[in-house]
Amino acid sequence: MTVQIQPLHGVGAEILGVDLDRELSNPEFDAVRAAYAEYGVIFFRDQTIDEDQHIAFARRWAPININRFLATHPDHPEIALVSKEREQRENIGGAWHTDHSYDQIPAMGSILVARELPPEGGNTLFASMYGAFNALSEERQRQLSTLNAVHSARHIFAKGAYYGNTDAGGSRIGNAEAAEHLVDAIHPVVIEHPLSGKHALYVNPAYTIRIEGWPEHESRALLMELFAHCIQGEFVHEFVWRPGSIAFWDNRATWHFAKNDYHGHRREMHRITVEGEPLRGAPACGELAAMGDH
Ligand code: SIN
Repeated sequence: MTVQIQPLHGVGAEILGVDLDRELSNPEFDAVRAAYAEYGVIFFRDQTIDEDQHIAFARRWAPININRFLATHPDHPEIALVSKEREQRENIGGAWHTDHSYDQIPAMGSILVARELPPEGGNTLFASMYGAFNALSEERQRQLSTLNAVHSARHIFAKGAYYGNTDAGGSRIGNAEAAEHLVDAIHPVVIEHPLSGKHALYVNPAYTIRIEGWPEHESRALLMELFAHCIQGEFVHEFVWRPGSIAFWDNRATWHFAKNDYHGHRREMHRITVEGEPLRGAPACGELAAMGDH
């Protein structure tokens, strides 16, 4: 079988010709990694991996990040449970975000395996931060490449914060004390992607709280403008889950949004997040900006 890459509308690519229940050869792995870097999110269909195979696949990419806030699998702490019970109204991840941007070294990405799906609904939206950046005017790109943004998760995971006020929390989200001790992370607004070298916008509606050093109202106005820009249809793909589907997204190149339109049904996904590396600003944009200053 040869690995085939099928690019999708908006963002991402479907990977055909691989079975993740056996170890990929080095050439196969290299082809999958190149697609991941290029497209920001990759999808696999009709897979039959168990928990150990999920963990083994994740370890091939990078060390596993043991989740601090989500409930984990009772036998496999490497696997975070993203679940919604029949009687619950709120889901986990039901707003545009990218995981872990509140960390000093944000995680590379997450491998999400469908374990139990509602009869319909429960799709996940993905948005391309490469596409969103490329569509900006050169002047805007230059300006953004000189800026840093501040990221936090206290308003999401801390005591009395977002999840504490919805029924998405309970036994599914915990460790609020750890969130209270998080130190805000500062990252460039435009990054040079560590794998692809491409430029990507690196702000997101859930965790980016302000542009560093800007007055609150100006910071809010810019972030709102960017958030609206990023979710235009041309950058977005809606992934329809089926039994055996797997999505592996890159947190540095995409956002995602778990739709919450299946009340009365159970949905359970197994998520493994793998570690990333320190982020760098996009130097070419930075150099252009510096030239513009003289
Ligand atoms: C997440 O945000 O990690 C979950 C995405 C999903 O459940 O589709």
